[in-house]
Amino acid sequence: MKVLVTGGAGYIGSHTVRQLHGAGHDVVVLDTLEFGRREAVGDTPFVQGDTGDTALVERVLRDERIEAVIHFAAYKSVGDSMQQPGRYFQNNVCGTLNLLTAMTQAQVKYIVFSSTCAVYGTPETLPVSETNAIHPESVYGETKVMVERLLHWFDATTGLRSAALRYFNAAGASFDATLGEDWTYTLNLVPLVMKAALGHLPTLKIFGSDYPTSDGTAIRDYIHVVDLADAHVKALEFLQREDRSDVFNLGTGHGSSVQQIINAAREVSGLPIPVEYAERRPGDPVASWADNTKARTLLGWTPQYGLREIVETAWQWHHTHHGFAK
Ligand code: UD1
Repeated sequence: MKVLVTGGAGYIGSHTVRQLHGAGHDVVVLDTLEFGRREAVGDTPFVQGDTGDTALVERVLRDERIEAVIHFAAYKSVGDSMQQPGRYFQNNVCGTLNLLTAMTQAQVKYIVFSSTCAVYGTPETLPVSETNAIHPESVYGETKVMVERLLHWFDATTGLRSAALRYFNAAGASFDATLGEDWTYTLNLVPLVMKAALGHLPTLKIFGSDYPTSDGTAIRDYIHVVDLADAHVKALEFLQREDRSDVFNLGTGHGSSVQQIINAAREVSGLPIPVEYAERRPGDPVASWADNTKARTLLGWTPQYGLREIVETAWQWHHTHHGFAK
């Protein structure tokens, strides 16, 4: 298929672009480059611009004869979203509404959307399944819920088919260490562990060591970015095959603690990684991991990698890309 990837120069987007090529799809990337890197997409046809730019989006969809969209472009910092709610609603919700409207006009029928486990807020039961209650606890999470509702109604009224993929904690890098996360702006655990290992942070703060878990630190479901990218290709195939919309959790189904991540990173890097015990971060749930049965069954997706590969690839990427170390 001919696929437009918005946010294709970003972290998960660039991995997905690579796998789309591998699966024989034609790709065009649309990215503002506010956070993405042009180099991350190589010689893939590239348009610099915003999903909020109606004329541009309509032109790209028509001129490039796009058949499906994978939509990553969005702001993704939870903390930031509470400081600048308007920016998040504008970019994540209005930008997507604009894209969906343009898709309808250009008769593009399929969209794979980057959603998040943040739609569940603090999970009521574990593992978290797609039927768990939706109650986001941040503006960021709310923007993703709002887009999922838009997708529902566009399906019902125009026949636009969507797969909303609710990522758990994306982490890791490509196995050839050419694609990975830019740690400049991130506040996520794995890149910060690498930053501390490489001496670009004085210490890694462990937010909470008195949780009711086996080592006292919080538990998350870390999913390798290469597995996530694979799920996007499979979601496209699902939409074509089934001609219906659905939502899927993307996680490994297993939780790892903050301490386990640090231990693995110490082992892989051979470096001490200084840590500091800090207060629990407000709003952090004690534990979250996915029930991924639905994605396994309906997408035919099986995550291939675990904590070891996440930490090894993240380490390879970060210690060879000091260029991004700000
Ligand atoms: C966060 C978001 C989630 C989003 C995800 C991916 C919240 C409440 N959730 O997940 O919505 O989808 O990022 O962007 O913000 N930690 C430390 N020290 C650090 C950083 C993190 O101990 O310096 C701990 C956290 O307390 C948490 C775990 O590491 O237990 C993972 O944190 P993080 O990578 O920020 O992701 P989440 O908070 O799980």
